Amino acid sequence: MALIDTTPQWQALAAHWQRMAQVHMRDLFAREPDRAKRMSADAAGLHLDYAKHIATDETLKLLLELARAAEVEGWRERMFAGEHINSTEDRAVLHVALRNRSNRPILVDGADVMPEVNGVLNRMRDFSNRVRAGDWQGFTGRPINDVVNIGIGGSNLGPKMVCTALTPYQSEAPRPHFVSNVDGTHLAETLKGLDPSTTLFIVASKTFTTQETMTNARSARQWLVDGLGSDAAVRNHFVAVSTNAEKVTEFGIDTENMFGFWDWVGGRYSLWSAIGLPIALAVGFERFEELLAGAHEMDEHFRTAPLEQNLPVLLGMLGVWYIDFAGAATHAILPYDQYLEHFPAYFQQGDMESNGKHVTRDGARVPYHTGPVVWGQPGTDGQHAFYQLIHQGTELIPSDFIAPAKSHNPMGDHHAKLLANCFAQTEALMRGRTLEEARDGMLAAGLDSAEADRLAPQRQFDGNRPSSTILMEQVTPRTLGALIALYEHKIFTQGIVWGINSFDQWGVELGKQLAGVILGEIEDGKPGADHDSSTAGLLEWYLARR
Ligand code: F6P
Repeated sequence: MALIDTTPQWQALAAHWQRMAQVHMRDLFAREPDRAKRMSADAAGLHLDYAKHIATDETLKLLLELARAAEVEGWRERMFAGEHINSTEDRAVLHVALRNRSNRPILVDGADVMPEVNGVLNRMRDFSNRVRAGDWQGFTGRPINDVVNIGIGGSNLGPKMVCTALTPYQSEAPRPHFVSNVDGTHLAETLKGLDPSTTLFIVASKTFTTQETMTNARSARQWLVDGLGSDAAVRNHFVAVSTNAEKVTEFGIDTENMFGFWDWVGGRYSLWSAIGLPIALAVGFERFEELLAGAHEMDEHFRTAPLEQNLPVLLGMLGVWYIDFAGAATHAILPYDQYLEHFPAYFQQGDMESNGKHVTRDGARVPYHTGPVVWGQPGTDGQHAFYQLIHQGTELIPSDFIAPAKSHNPMGDHHAKLLANCFAQTEALMRGRTLEEARDGMLAAGLDSAEADRLAPQRQFDGNRPSSTILMEQVTPRTLGALIALYEHKIFTQGIVWGINSFDQWGVELGKQLAGVILGEIEDGKPGADHDSSTAGLLEWYLARR
């Protein structure tokens, strides 16, 4: 496989950046009155404005030529056709099958996976209805009031993010809680105030071997058994979500209380599977289905829309533009909706675990940059924290602004102010403020000319800082589903262009292995001989004080 940076399409973009680096978006907007109209698109209930980018029609044309040279369309088909595009693990990548509401057959190794997918969905429906109706009872015959999901990474961040995002749709009970960190504080603080007789634990782990999850699950089990005075209580209070029936049984959960999924569902793409059980329990199965429907609508858009109007492809390629040609190292996700507070953290894993890769699918080291550092937090808090650097720092940080037209909590002029801030930030980032504007503003405010001259460089903004704005009518299960799928396919598009495998995560292995070795040494009370002096010193310091 030829490296993408050796293609004429890549080289054309490199040359194009040399020209575009001299262009200011302000001038593009001045020259092109219809810019916003041309550079915006709608799909699956989302409105994307991508006019505030350092990009012309020529830029987009070249970026899409690069996407075609990388065979984005072909790879997209291979993914939907169930081919083993996760080559290092020899697996299909089919989170799209989990939300395939059309029920169109999707084949993996010749067999249609839809009957099994629908089978698990039916069990989730039945179980969540029973728990929500109080028909599933705890060991002492009481209904379930609290659900504690024990999982980490993809087995935590997705359901946690969605449950929070859909808070307005939650019933009073059962209330969802999430424990992920192996730090005992996380479990201890979560269990404070919970009653074992009305608490249900979901042990969520694809592999059912993850150290953090199994440690938390064992401690939660102990808490329950201590609280209810019988091992037999586990049956009423523990269910598992996993692909590993053997380990689930070994832990002591009957496979009757296990919800399965498949190796073709990546952890960070798994909220659509039984990993989404906390969502169904919190908001009801119908709402969970609406989430799937929204994602499916985006899948269909991604699968069928021409690249020129394809939202995930456009976002993905604009990302490539900044990362590989303009030198951006990070990407900010800035939701203007408090309910989306965990959205940036969710896609931190989604993006960084997928595209944080340094070799191609063939094992060649990539000579270009791949996935960016993804970060962010909800507006307007971020404005009073890190936006200064986005506006006037020396880093180029492409940012996504995400906002709903309607709040779930209409309250005076809060929402108008929230959105005014959102739009104003994108405008300020794009437009900036010239030295003259800064100076004139200060003179108009009564400063003398020497003072205005002194302060003008501080108050000048270069502008030309790119952003995309994604709007939706309201954060609903449906629009949220579409929004998540939009980002998933954006990540896919970028991974294909970079020629990497976005669906494995070997980079997390080494730390896990070494933690196992060090844990043994901590248990033995002395550091092993193989450590560097820093690690050995840290261990000794800890062992002397624990
Ligand atoms: O962080 C590595 C990872 O394998 C993630 O990809 C995954 O989401 C997480 O650990 C949890 O894995 P599991 O669901 O198998 O417990």
